[in-house]
Amino acid sequence: MILCDKGLFTLHTKHTTYQMKADGLGVLLHTYYGPRLRGGDLSTLIQYADRGFSPNPWDARENRSYSLDNLPQECSSCGVGDYRLPSLELELSDGSHLTDFRYQGFRLERGKYRLEGLPAFFGGEEWETLRITLKDQAAQLEVELLYGVLEERDLITRALRVINRGDQPVTLCRAASLCLDFQRDGLDFITFDGAHIVERCPHRSSLRSGIQSVGSTRGASSHHHNPFVILCDHEATEDHGRCYGAMLLYSGNFEAAAELAQFQNTRLTLGIHPHHFRFPLAPGQSFTTPEAALICSPTGLAQLSTQFHRALREHLIRDPYAGKRRPVLINNWEATEFHFDADKLLDIARAAAPLGMELFVMDDGWFGNRNSDSSSLGDWTVNEEKLPGGLEALTPRIQELGMCFGIWIEPEMVNEDSQLYRAHPDWVLGAPGRPQTVSRGQLVLDFSRKDVRDHIYRDIQKVLDSAPIRYVKWDMNRSLSDVWSAALPAERQGEVYHRFVLGVYDFLERLRQDYPDLLIEGCSGGGGRFDAGMLYYTPQIWCSDNTDAIDRLRIQFGTSFGYPLSAVGAHVSAAPNAQTGRTVSMETRGVVAMGGTFGYEMDLSKATPEEREIIRRQTAFFKEHYDLIQRGDYYRLSDPFQEGPYTAWEQVSPDRREALVSLVTGSVHAGLPFLSLRLKGLDPNLDYRVNGEGRYPGDLLMEAGWPLPLPWNDYQSTQLYLSAI
Ligand code: DGJ
Repeated sequence: MILCDKGLFTLHTKHTTYQMKADGLGVLLHTYYGPRLRGGDLSTLIQYADRGFSPNPWDARENRSYSLDNLPQECSSCGVGDYRLPSLELELSDGSHLTDFRYQGFRLERGKYRLEGLPAFFGGEEWETLRITLKDQAAQLEVELLYGVLEERDLITRALRVINRGDQPVTLCRAASLCLDFQRDGLDFITFDGAHIVERCPHRSSLRSGIQSVGSTRGASSHHHNPFVILCDHEATEDHGRCYGAMLLYSGNFEAAAELAQFQNTRLTLGIHPHHFRFPLAPGQSFTTPEAALICSPTGLAQLSTQFHRALREHLIRDPYAGKRRPVLINNWEATEFHFDADKLLDIARAAAPLGMELFVMDDGWFGNRNSDSSSLGDWTVNEEKLPGGLEALTPRIQELGMCFGIWIEPEMVNEDSQLYRAHPDWVLGAPGRPQTVSRGQLVLDFSRKDVRDHIYRDIQKVLDSAPIRYVKWDMNRSLSDVWSAALPAERQGEVYHRFVLGVYDFLERLRQDYPDLLIEGCSGGGGRFDAGMLYYTPQIWCSDNTDAIDRLRIQFGTSFGYPLSAVGAHVSAAPNAQTGRTVSMETRGVVAMGGTFGYEMDLSKATPEEREIIRRQTAFFKEHYDLIQRGDYYRLSDPFQEGPYTAWEQVSPDRREALVSLVTGSVHAGLPFLSLRLKGLDPNLDYRVNGEGRYPGDLLMEAGWPLPLPWNDYQSTQLYLSAI
């Protein structure tokens, strides 16, 4: 996979080639990334020209065509003649921000490198690791570039480590995990943006001169932008054109920036957001960036998504839940919010169990005096007024019904009205002499501090040890603000945002070690921290607080570009919907929730006999086709953001012998044209039954399509189950 030859490094995957070359001056140039080539030295592709105001490095002063300003680089320099976004920016002890990293050497290893305390793709012999060392001679700074290559998935990962080998302290101010340079234009930038309850809407625009960026300074990856972006040909569609997906395995502040530079050359950087990021490195100290993941698809967006989905399912989401079936759950939040007691929970559980539900999740409101969102976060003891006898009494009653039991927690937060805050007001983020900004009535605990984390961990551990708890929903219901830690001196406050994220990872890793069978679902007011960093610890993430099936079509569509269905928390909730007031049939709500992990979040004790029957059928169908739905290859068949009469998607089993097509109509107008739906991913040489009937050739279903019967109503749904004959 990785060929190294006199400073030429060629990374081959199944469908792509990525190449770098250390040139005569030791600058590590990026020569090519795209469809797989046979090899050779591709540096002949790089064009050199004498351009005004593009300076020459001191050691190339005789050659005016050589300028870092225009050359494609793997780790771009800072302050020495490249005016584009730098990969790294360091403040040196003399106050300068000048670095110029040159090639020193490399090491090639079988297997995948690891990053201490950070999420990273994992695996065995199917990976290769390349370590390239660069050095800035003047400051005695070293950079180790880490590349992981997974051939079958076209996956190239990258992280870097900055090591202060000098005898003076330096401060890291910017550390992009990824720098991807192209000497070309003609690229579109796709980002996934939104807000609370409107997460990950795709936005595609052609790059224009200058820097276009998205990012988060909220301390979490955010509802507003996602650390997954795509660069693609203007002409790229689901099935054609070259696409590059870049994903950051990080759950805090990030920046994804695409720069179209002076000669239409393009640079993509992805990494920790430089906002209030300053990491001092004393002599001998080092800093490791989060991991970035790259996949290039030469054949459109569908293949890009398929490869990301497979890579995340197989090499990021960890056992036991990578392979293990996830339970169909019932959650009480939308049914009761804070207002419940054991009897109410048991009413819902008694209704849910015979309908096929396997896990009962008790959401917010079970601890301290938590009767509203303004109290008790931080006091992780069971409210015995609501739950007499505690979880020890409740859990067996849930288990008797044949379900397992799970709870909601929000460990990073505290209310002022809590015993914890009254005892430790200095444990929250906030600078002295300045009152803190409040959000949802809560403050943020300083999770950069181990003593704070240890205290919360012990309290939560007591709860987890008190009963057989099989699932935890880890919520985070506000953005960080007032970021200042009482545990660090003034000159180290720029570390706090990052140390907060490392603290969250540390807490989650401890949970994983101490409770290996616990299923943890991530959540941040729905999808406010939906990223690959979290997926390393939490195999699924509540995708959005918006449970309206029609809005969810868009949110789940956007999410599907980077993330697999098995990661997407999706529930059937009551109609009319709590967020939009829209009424959608139980059938359609079920079809949409099967575009994710599938569960229910409503008062099932109030369901009518007809509704119960539909639910029984839905859970049985989901369980019967679990592998296909959760592990099949996913195809977007239409775009819910376009004015079209329906939204459709499809899952196809890896052997292409089974497929499930789901279709939901939009707001329907009279006089619809005759429509047929062209399927994808089938075997053209096989014949299929559709819902157990007929005989339909795969090539016909893909090339001519499946006729869609008229008439339609608003928000109807259909599912077609295809099985090869
Ligand atoms: C926000 C979550 O996204 C909801 O599902 C629910 O758990 C509430 N928090 C509880 O406060």
